[in-house]
Amino acid sequence: MTRSGARRILITGGTSGLGLAVAKKLARHHKLLLSGRKSQIEMAGALPRGAGYIVADQRDPERSTEVLLRGIRDFGWDSLDNAVLNAGVGFAPADGLDGPEAIRETLDVNLVAAMLQAQALFPLLAKSRGTLTFIGSVAHTGSATFPAYAASKAGLHGLARSLRSEWGGRVSVQVLHPGPTKTDMHAKAGHDPGRMRALFLEPGDVAAMMASAIASRRSPVTLSWLRYLSGGAYLGRRL
Ligand SMILES: NC(=O)c1ccc[n+]([C@@H]2O[C@H](COP(=O)([O-])OP(=O)(O)OC[C@H]3O[C@@H](n4cnc5c(N)ncnc54)[C@H](OP(=O)(O)O)[C@@H]3O)[C@@H](O)[C@H]2O)c1
Repeated sequence: MTRSGARRILITGGTSGLGLAVAKKLARHHKLLLSGRKSQIEMAGALPRGAGYIVADQRDPERSTEVLLRGIRDFGWDSLDNAVLNAGVGFAPADGLDGPEAIRETLDVNLVAAMLQAQALFPLLAKSRGTLTFIGSVAHTGSATFPAYAASKAGLHGLARSLRSEWGGRVSVQVLHPGPTKTDMHAKAGHDPGRMRALFLEPGDVAAMMASAIASRRSPVTLSWLRYLSGGAYLGRRL
């Protein structure tokens, strides 16, 4: 953390949806480095002011982790206060069964890459007794619409619990489980939630819940209507 209290925060999947929403929320007070699969040109003008950007496609977990580490170093950072591993994909199979390619991409992007990133980022986070945050989903308990996606999020839940005990407080580890949110994820997944979408949370509200949950360092945390309506997102600790 700098003398001004500004944290060094890495957010993967920072090009759209929740990642970009939380980045915009934190950019006023903190230093941000985002990553995603979009090119630097595609992201020009879309990043919060002062934020850096690393192109790292997580479909190749090993390479994208190397690229991410190099990008952090090239940005001049030798430590991190927070890493928010948020990048994720899902596919809604028409007949309820994911094909091999969808299974591979979902697990590589959501779980294998996050696992390798967690290992690789540990020394940087340990330097500042930082916090590693996995973005899971309420689907981690199972979903008929997104089976491989649900499995990947269940994996993140187990991984967070394991690292939390293995790392023994040298780095705080948490997993946050957002409820359904009005981002483009469902359209990208080929899923039309129909009228149910009207009940989904707004990305800005979930981003507020994420920031508050990250500051609390608690885990696991479900980011739901209940927390939103009870004011938990706004009255909790601030990052
Ligand atoms: N929306 C919901 O209802 C909901 C509910 C629970 C949990 N979540 C979780 O919240 C997180 C953010 O999702 P979102 O709703 O904000 O969806 P989103 O708008 O699609 O954002 C997902 C992010 O991950 C990135 N990404 C996808 N594939 C990637 C790859 N191969 N390499 C690197 N980055 C990749 C996306 O990049 P592009 O911009 O290039 O697509 C985007 O930045 C995900 O982990 C998701 O599972 C979402």
